[in-house]
Amino acid sequence: MTNDGQPIPVIIDCDTGVDDALALLFAVRHPGLDLRAVTCVAGNTDVDGVVRNTLTVLEQAGAPDIPVARGAALPLIEPARSARHVHGEDGMGDIGLPAPTRAPADVDAVTLLRREILASPRPVTLIPTAPLTNIALLLRTHPEVTRNIERIVFMGGAVACGNATPVAEFNVWHDPEAAAILLTAGVPITMYGLDVFQRVVVPGADVRRLRASAEPGARLAGELLSHRPATPDVGADSEAGGIGDAGAVCAVVDPAGITTRLLPVEVSLAPGPTRGQTIVDRRPRPGESEIHIGDRERHLVDVALDVDVDRFVKLYLTAVERA
Ligand code: BDR
Ligand code: CA
Repeated sequence: MTNDGQPIPVIIDCDTGVDDALALLFAVRHPGLDLRAVTCVAGNTDVDGVVRNTLTVLEQAGAPDIPVARGAALPLIEPARSARHVHGEDGMGDIGLPAPTRAPADVDAVTLLRREILASPRPVTLIPTAPLTNIALLLRTHPEVTRNIERIVFMGGAVACGNATPVAEFNVWHDPEAAAILLTAGVPITMYGLDVFQRVVVPGADVRRLRASAEPGARLAGELLSHRPATPDVGADSEAGGIGDAGAVCAVVDPAGITTRLLPVEVSLAPGPTRGQTIVDRRPRPGESEIHIGDRERHLVDVALDVDVDRFVKLYLTAVERA
């Protein structure tokens, strides 16, 4: 809730995506959030697949009226490189979901983002859970939107280890230039990176309960969690599943569930093995580079360094199982 007791206005920009779908289910069901629009971008699968999956999830979640718009089909410079090996051929774990019954909005994602951000009576929190192409295009096309953005909480980047490459996380690696533009937005930014993303795992017993639910949205959450793309290593609990991108939405509802530090972050744009890495400066004092060469322009970001796993699992389940 906002300080005046109203639900927080949010917009999710996603590449649905098994865990993006988990994020949408949570956002629709949590009473403290007002999901005003969803915009789609190429990432886990092609953008038309993302639009289809997003519309289907919102219908299954009982929220068929939320505006959905199609966005960028390609990153700014790179070719599109899907993650179908993780998210299935349909980008949704191939769990046999029906096609949606409605079409997306007749405006593109950037237009819808601008319209909904500026129309919101209270500043909007943007939650990108995908490559940042739409957000970069928005910031470059309509920079005035930042006057009504409260914060951007994005799933992307990593302090320690990458997934797309040894050092780069998929969403940033897919469109590094777009991620670099995001950092120039001039609004508060929270980076919900791989370091916390991979840790929030729903135990197998809860996943079984969700899958057995008679309520379609909760059952869908169970099916998606059992596909568990975000948790390659769940240890002994083989039915456990990670909430992935949904953790970034939890961090909007309950910021105290993550521990953040305001740190300089930059995206490596150089070709080669570091491309797409988020370089997070945790040094306690300037180094020789700053002393001898000087400071480069770097942007301060609230970087999530730790997460209260039990708190977010409980938060997630309570919202999704809400009647
Ligand atoms: C991110 O990449 C995608 O596969 C997931 O949906 C998540 O947004 C994790 O690196
Ligand atoms: Ca995603």
